[in-house]
Amino acid sequence: MSVTLGTPLQPTAFKVLLLGSGELGKEVVISLQRLGVEVHAADRYDHAPAMQVAHYSHTLNMADPTALRNLIDTVKPQLIVPEIEAIATDVLIEIENNNTATIIPSAKAVSLTMNREGIRCLAAEELSIPTSEYRFADSLEQFRKASNEIGYPNFVKPVMSSSGKGQSYVKNADQVDAAWKYAMETARINQGKVIIESKIDFDFEITLLTVRAKNPNTQSIETHFCSPIGHQQQDGDYIESWQPQAMTEQALNKAKEIAEKVTTALGGCGIFGVELFVKGDDVWFSEVSPRPHDTGLVTLASQFQSEFELHARAILGLPVNTTQHSIAASAVVYAGVDSKNLNYQHIEQALSHPDTDLRLFGKPEGFKKRRMGVVTARATNTEEARHLARDAAQKITVKA
Ligand SMILES: Nc1ncnc2c1ncn2[C@@H]1O[C@H](COP(=O)(O)OP(=O)(O)OP(=O)(O)O)[C@@H](O)[C@H]1O
Ligand SMILES: [Mg+2]
Repeated sequence: MSVTLGTPLQPTAFKVLLLGSGELGKEVVISLQRLGVEVHAADRYDHAPAMQVAHYSHTLNMADPTALRNLIDTVKPQLIVPEIEAIATDVLIEIENNNTATIIPSAKAVSLTMNREGIRCLAAEELSIPTSEYRFADSLEQFRKASNEIGYPNFVKPVMSSSGKGQSYVKNADQVDAAWKYAMETARINQGKVIIESKIDFDFEITLLTVRAKNPNTQSIETHFCSPIGHQQQDGDYIESWQPQAMTEQALNKAKEIAEKVTTALGGCGIFGVELFVKGDDVWFSEVSPRPHDTGLVTLASQFQSEFELHARAILGLPVNTTQHSIAASAVVYAGVDSKNLNYQHIEQALSHPDTDLRLFGKPEGFKKRRMGVVTARATNTEEARHLARDAAQKITVKA
């Protein structure tokens, strides 16, 4: 079956509905626009980054099943591309079952990965992939017991949360009750349930971008890997990333094996960000995003096809090329203040080095720790690339 792309804004349009319109979605939209795909971008607030480059935008609560179903009925997209986790997944399952549209990468992948329990049980129990030790708890009583079983230090995370929200690093038994309280207060969709994970004493952590794409000659779905991306996290949020992360051949092979197993089980076509911990030749699975990954912003500078182009091509059924052409790094630009209508200054100084580049996401409102932009830099080694990216990001002044 060959791929047919129509003309946007015309009856022949090939339509994609993006659910979640953040900075990662914005780059996916740009890639789709280049292929003449009609893009509808949805989010819970107006003027979200991806909305600014889409043909149409829709503001709604995507966790509300009725609102989501109405939107899908109105737009009638061929593909539905979730960009965030807080979506009424039952609606997506129904759409997939009725063949009304294709869910990217699959309704199963979207619902399993939005809940830490779903993906952890799939990886550790069904697929026998190494992970940290873990327990789940949905009451303070159970939580205290599970924490003692796992031991200290450990990580506590609400099962429904991302970007470090509600997460605690618990050093000893005295901190247990506070961690429970914090998780319950800040969980995004409060399910009242947490995972307690033993601490993995890793040398470094990576994102292995893994693409499932159709081979045009055989029509079968094949798995492709990007070079491993190293990254630095602070309070559960990424602050810088680089590609490639040097690692032993044995560890890289294990990483690929794990990524292939997990993404095959999740199914469909598209890019996945497989998060792994590495120590020497050993590799542990942490979690996976069934979509572009924030640490993969570095691929805008390092690959012939960025993770966003790879996603766009794979979901349309087109072939992909994951080749890296340059060593590069990325560094995050935070708002630093809680304010609307921010101004960005000293950009010319930040970009004074010819191998640096900048994306400003155009978010209408900033918070102290909200990511507003990213700097990328190319160099002949990762240390230099990291230095250049960090240095340029620091030069940018964000003004309220
Ligand atoms: N079991 C663990 N052992 C060691 N470090 C961990 C463990 N769990 C989490 N971390 C650290 O905390 C970071 C964030 O954890 P995790 O990816 O599970 O949270 P998240 O909220 O999904 O973050 P994000 O959305 O940014 O990926 C990890 O990248 C890692 O640095
Ligand atoms: Mg993570």
